[in-house]
Amino acid sequence: MVAPRALISTTQWMLLITQLCAGWHCTDLEMPDSPIRNLMLDQWKMELNWMSSMNFTEDWCSVTAGDFSMTVMAEDMKCTFGNTAPPLHNGASFSVTAVNMNGTYSTVCRYIPQGINGSAIENFSCVIYNVSLMNCTWQAGRDAPEDTQYFLYWQNSRYDDAMECELYITDENGRNTGCRFQDVRIDVNKAYFLVNGSSKDSLIQFYDEYIQLYKIENLMPPSNITVNCDEIKNDCIIQWQRPQINHSNQDKCFKYEINIKYKDNPEGKPIYASIQEGGSSHTLHRSNARKKHHLKMRAAGSTCLVSPTWGEWSVPVEFGNEEIISSSAWILLVVAAVTLLMAIITILFCKRTSCWEAAFPQIPGPKNAFNGLPDTNPELMESKIQTITSENEEIILVSDVVK
Ligand SMILES: *[C@@H]1O[C@H](CO)[C@@H](O)[C@H](O)[C@H]1NC(C)=O
Ligand SMILES: *[C@@H]1O[C@H](CO)[C@@H](O)[C@H](O)[C@H]1NC(C)=O
Ligand SMILES: *[C@@H]1O[C@H](CO)[C@@H](O)[C@H](O)[C@H]1NC(C)=O
Ligand SMILES: *[C@@H]1O[C@H](CO)[C@@H](O)[C@H](O)[C@H]1NC(C)=O
Ligand SMILES: *[C@@H]1O[C@H](CO)[C@@H](O)[C@H](O)[C@H]1NC(C)=O
Ligand SMILES: *[C@@H]1O[C@H](CO)[C@@H](O)[C@H](O)[C@H]1NC(C)=O
Ligand SMILES: *[C@@H]1O[C@H](CO)[C@@H](O)[C@H](O)[C@H]1NC(C)=O
Ligand SMILES: *[C@@H]1O[C@H](CO)[C@@H](O)[C@H](O)[C@H]1NC(C)=O
Ligand SMILES: *[C@@H]1O[C@H](CO)[C@@H](O)[C@H](O)[C@H]1NC(C)=O
Repeated sequence: MVAPRALISTTQWMLLITQLCAGWHCTDLEMPDSPIRNLMLDQWKMELNWMSSMNFTEDWCSVTAGDFSMTVMAEDMKCTFGNTAPPLHNGASFSVTAVNMNGTYSTVCRYIPQGINGSAIENFSCVIYNVSLMNCTWQAGRDAPEDTQYFLYWQNSRYDDAMECELYITDENGRNTGCRFQDVRIDVNKAYFLVNGSSKDSLIQFYDEYIQLYKIENLMPPSNITVNCDEIKNDCIIQWQRPQINHSNQDKCFKYEINIKYKDNPEGKPIYASIQEGGSSHTLHRSNARKKHHLKMRAAGSTCLVSPTWGEWSVPVEFGNEEIISSSAWILLVVAAVTLLMAIITILFCKRTSCWEAAFPQIPGPKNAFNGLPDTNPELMESKIQTITSENEEIILVSDVVK
């Protein structure tokens, strides 16, 4: 029984060491007789584990990267930093401290990312738009070899599995410079992004970052904006619905900016501007009921986990009662002009192709009109039919003139 067990533990031992060297370069600064050994980091779970030759009453871990430092309690020779951990691309230092009645033991492990300096991507940024679409973009490192290709992996939260980008954005040389995501779920947890790279000549450094997704959302405009003016009281009620969003779906999570201009002066200064917290309606007193107005709105997060930057402006909503008569007169005029033009085109067309005799009697079922004309180009035929069927009225009208 003893021999197989020894074999198993030797295998595990070697496996651990191999993973240690492949995954990350850890410089063990432990004292030679430290009972805490074989620190191992799972970068995707952000979990540190180790082996110990002693029993301890209490143990904990800490990570330090740049100015950032955090400590978590260990459980069963394992520490989970979760998604409050710092990014690792600039290196980090991990330590495990354990206490028992014999004393306090500490092991420190320095994490040094591998690869040539300047090969990691730069200017990584992401934006969420249209409720659940996301774009992330980056630029190739300035000292990256020509053939470097980059790959993006991400986790929506530390408790999800890492996934590779499904739809890369590439540059003219076929190098990945971004990623498009669909159906992105905006969570309270921070998302973790890692972009690593490969080249046949050298090791490429990775870049990683935590992003709180709600902060990078470009909010949609408020929807269903309506303005109803009361002619007697001379005020208008603006109503809207909160922007389309897949989280924090409550009115109190938003604030709104309302902006009104004269329709005929869209570049001018707003005649009314207001910011309102929450709600879904706003009443305004009309100063000039005689002119047409353009109203637009945009939204931003207020109290909840919603992006505090202003989102997209809505398309302008028109209200006010100037020129109602003259604008309908305009529409009539345009309709008349178009009708006349169509009629003239039809006459000219029919004169040239002498289609008149064939087409006119067949108006209820014009397709048959051309059955007896084997020489006619079918495409031309199709267009004749369309002209005739869609302009029935004009044809009748015009036919009198022709006769
Ligand atoms: C304390 O150290 C002694 C000898 O160094 C060892 O035998 C003992 O198991 C240790 N106690 C604990 C709780 O590990
Ligand atoms: C640690 O504790 C377990 C039981 O809790 C015991 O079986 C084991 O021998 C202890 N190991 C050492 C090194 O003291
Ligand atoms: C890479 O840069 C780091 C600091 O930015 C420096 O400590 C290290 O020596 C550099 N490595 C090489 C190979 O130049
Ligand atoms: C990253 O952005 C900065 C500022 O826009 C720019 O100066 C720099 O050249 C960019 N980096 C790369 C690798 O293009
Ligand atoms: C937003 O998504 C919807 C449905 O996927 C699509 O119809 C619409 O064109 C998109 N709008 C923008 C601005 O991308
Ligand atoms: C996202 O990327 C696609 C493809 O490159 C682009 O067409 C779109 O405009 C981008 N959207 C945003 C908001 O950056
Ligand atoms: C977002 O919400 C819409 C409807 O509210 C739903 O159809 C869609 O599946 C949601 N998308 C995600 C990624 O949760
Ligand atoms: C990049 O990281 C992923 C996830 O850890 C890994 O599977 C992949 O092999 C890495 N690629 C390179 C080129 O290092
Ligand atoms: C806008 O109003 C229409 C009809 O009143 C309704 O069907 C639709 O769901 C509304 N849109 C939103 C985003 O609430």
